[in-house]
Amino acid sequence: MSGAAVNEYHPGLEGVIASETAIANIEGTDGAGGLEYRGYRIEDLADKVSYEETAFLLLHGDLPNREQLREFDGRLRKARAIPEALVTLLGEIPANIHPMDALRSAVSVLSHFDPDVNAAPTDHEANVRKAERMIAQMATAIAYRRRLSKGLPLVPPREDLDHAANFLYMVSGKVPSKTMRDAFDLSLVLYTEHELNASTFSARVTVSTLSDIYSGIVAAIGTLKGPLHGGANEEAWKVLERVGSPDKAESWIQDALARKERIMGFGHRVYKTGDPRARILKEHCIALAKEIGDDRWERIAEPIEKAVTSQKNLPPNVDWPSARLYHYMDLEIEIYTPIFAMARVAGWAAHIIEQLDHNRLMRPRAIYTGPPHRPVRPIEQRS
Ligand code: SDX
Repeated sequence: MSGAAVNEYHPGLEGVIASETAIANIEGTDGAGGLEYRGYRIEDLADKVSYEETAFLLLHGDLPNREQLREFDGRLRKARAIPEALVTLLGEIPANIHPMDALRSAVSVLSHFDPDVNAAPTDHEANVRKAERMIAQMATAIAYRRRLSKGLPLVPPREDLDHAANFLYMVSGKVPSKTMRDAFDLSLVLYTEHELNASTFSARVTVSTLSDIYSGIVAAIGTLKGPLHGGANEEAWKVLERVGSPDKAESWIQDALARKERIMGFGHRVYKTGDPRARILKEHCIALAKEIGDDRWERIAEPIEKAVTSQKNLPPNVDWPSARLYHYMDLEIEIYTPIFAMARVAGWAAHIIEQLDHNRLMRPRAIYTGPPHRPVRPIEQRS
C-alpha cells in the first residue's frame, strides 16, 4: 500500500497535502501567488462576475453562458422558501443563541425536507441539486432568524431581486442601493472558496466516510464558527469598537502588541505576504465610507493595519476589511460569520462533490503520548 511515512508529524497539519482539487488554487497557477477559482484569478473575477456566476463556476466547472446563468439563477430564486417547520424552530430557538449555532441547526432541519433526501450520498446530480437549494435557503434562514430573534416581522424573499440584493432586503426590509448590493455581492464572491481551509477540510473528512452532503455542510458550519477561522470577522469588528476613535488607535495597538495579544483579522496559515481578498475589499471599504460620509473606522483601521503588518509581519486577511464593509451596510455583527457561511456553502459543496466523486476515506494517524502499557487493577486496589 502506498502512502506517506507514518512517522511524519506536522502539528495542525501545517504544510500537509491532504487532497487533490481542481476547485481553487491559493498559490496561483503561474506561481505568482494569489487565489484562483478553477483557473480564474480572484482579481479578474472581482467586480466582473456575480455570486451566482461564481457558485455556478464552482459547482459546474466553468463560468455560465447567458442561458446557463438564466436557468441557474432561476432555480435559486425559486428555491428560496424554507419549510414552515424551520420557520417555527427559528422563532423558538432562544434569542441569545448565536446565529451560527442557529444556522447549524437550520441546515440540519433543511436536510430532512430536501426532495432528494433519499438519494445516495454519492449521487452527483442530487448533490448538485441539494447544493443549489442550500445556497438559496441558507440565506433565507439567516435573514429569518435575525428578524425572529429580534421580534421583527419576516420579510419574505422577492423573486425579482438577485441573491445579494434579496438577502439585504430580507434582513432590512429595504431594497439596497446598487453600491451596497455590488459591495455585498463582491464580498460573497471573495468568501466563496479557499481550497483546504479548516471548514472545507472538515466537510471533506465528513463525507469521506460516504456520509451525506448535508452532514458535511453542518460539520463545516460548526468549524467555521471558531474565532481562528470564520468567527474572526466578528472579532475584527470588536477590535475596532474597543479602540473607538482614530486618536486612540496607535496607542491601543502598541499596547496590544506589547501584551502579545492576537489581533483578529490578521495573519494566515498559508498567505504570508498578504491576502489578495483583503486588498480588494479595502478599496471598497474606503469607497463605501466615503459614500456614507463617515471614514472614522477607516482612520481607526489604518494605524492598526500598519502596525501589525510592519511590527509582526502579519498582513490583514479577508476578515479584517469585511468587518467594516458589513458595518457600512448596517449589517449587525452577529450575522457576519453566517454571511461568510452562506457564501462559502458553494465552495464547501463543490469540495464535497469532488470528494465523493473520487473518494478515499480520510484517516490520519496520531503520535501516542499517553501512559506506557500497564495492568488493570481491581477497583479495591485503585487509589
Ligand atoms: C480565515 O485557511 C484559510 O484559508 C482560512 C480563510 C478562508 O478563506 O477559509 O482564509 C479564512 O480563517 C482567515 C483567518 C482568520 N483568523 C484570524 O484572523 C484570527 C487571527 N489570526 C491567527 O489566529 C492566525 O494568524 C491564524 C489562525 C490565521 C494562522 O495561525 P497559524 O498559522 O497557526 O500561526 P500561529 O497561530 O502558530 O502563529 C504564529 C506566530 C505566533 O507567534 P509566536 O507564538 O510564534 O511568537 O504568529 C503569531 C502567533 O502568536 N500570530 C499572531 C497572529 N496570528 C499569528 N499574533 C498576533 N495577532 C495575530 N493575528
